[in-house]
Amino acid sequence: MEKLVIKGPTPLKGEVQINGAKNAAVAILPAALLINGVCTIDNLPDISDVKISCKILEKLGAKIKWNNKNSVTIDATEINTTKAPIDLTSKFRASYYIIGAMLSRKGEIEVGMPGGCQLGARPIDQHIKGFESLGANVTIENGIIHAKADKLKGNPVYMDIVSVGATINVMLSAVLAKGTTTIDNAAKEPHIVDVANFLNTMGADIRGAGTDVIKINGVKELTGNATYSVVPDQIEAGTFMLAAVATKGDLLIKNCITKHLDSITAKIIEVGGIVEDYGDSLRVYCKNRPLKANIKTLPYPGFPTDLQPQIGVVLSLAKGTSIINESIWESRFQYVHELNKMGAKITAQGNTAIFEGVETLSGAPVSATDLRAGAALIIAGMAAKGVTEIYNLEHIDRGYENIEQKFNNIGAKIERIIE
Ligand code: UD1
Repeated sequence: MEKLVIKGPTPLKGEVQINGAKNAAVAILPAALLINGVCTIDNLPDISDVKISCKILEKLGAKIKWNNKNSVTIDATEINTTKAPIDLTSKFRASYYIIGAMLSRKGEIEVGMPGGCQLGARPIDQHIKGFESLGANVTIENGIIHAKADKLKGNPVYMDIVSVGATINVMLSAVLAKGTTTIDNAAKEPHIVDVANFLNTMGADIRGAGTDVIKINGVKELTGNATYSVVPDQIEAGTFMLAAVATKGDLLIKNCITKHLDSITAKIIEVGGIVEDYGDSLRVYCKNRPLKANIKTLPYPGFPTDLQPQIGVVLSLAKGTSIINESIWESRFQYVHELNKMGAKITAQGNTAIFEGVETLSGAPVSATDLRAGAALIIAGMAAKGVTEIYNLEHIDRGYENIEQKFNNIGAKIERIIE
């Protein structure tokens, strides 16, 4: 078993480079299945979700060549099966993108029900609704999703709720469909724009990504023969911004798109931190104890649910009482129980948590209940007095490249121990 041992408190100081976005990468890799040819994808984060995505592509027949740990060349000319490996697809959430991509490319796919963080029910009804609007038949039996279509045909799709995954998946399925598909009430996250940019670079015709209406004119073929670089990770950048505030540090966060971080910047200023915007980097510092603030998580451009646990650590240390309302995932407050073991005073009920700020946290053995909870506990460990031990690291390794090394480079004292 592996654990992280963190000695705190350590105010973070220095510069950190942000990697490519996990949530863009795990959609762009399946999107490469649409290309009847070769493409190169750069700036991939070196994380386990990316490695598993590449293995799934290989099992479907694509040829994968690693250029270095962050760049891959994919030849998807030959796709020789429509059965995706169940053991791999059930390991993470974004394996559902295989459905949209393979429906588009081969007209059929069998895939295991997606796995990933246990954040609540995580239904995929909107994905299925979209595929069916384009003419596919989708069945779920014994935990296997089977989708099939003779020829997909463009159609209007109205999303009943704003869903990142369903927006991207319907976009993937529409790229090679006959005619035009419009997605109304589409999600607007930066990685949706990134997937559309990737597909357009490879020959697709997608307009409006980043707004709530996306129009996809079906094309006959994607020929690829191009190189694409994944967008910087909004959530990784936000994690470092909030770590700077929680540890009363001073960080220069490089290689980020500062516009994507507006909602986080606004909250950091509200709690008394300073954010200096240099276009592709941000300096974030906070000299004093943070102030209270109230937060509601929302789809982009609202405050992201994937940074809710990390700002929860800041609010657990704030002067006064704060409230977080979680509007996306019903089980996102699992980290609260762990943080309370470190001396936080948080009460969570339903989709609301009340944070009675304490002056200091103290180190304790805790468990990463999911990916972002894990990141939050690392921040808490660096802000707390004493030794924190974090277990269940596989969640953290799914989504953050080299996380302890990156924090150690800016002043943290974190060791990975294999027991
Ligand atoms: C993506 C992100 C995840 C992030 C989430 C919200 C990836 C790989 N993961 O997850 O990190 O937390 O966006 O920003 O990009 N819903 C339905 N029916 C559906 C689909 C979703 O009811 O068919 C609901 C969900 O239960 C949730 C909400 O819609 O309450 C948003 O989910 P969605 O945006 O789809 O999240 P994911 O794409 O799974």
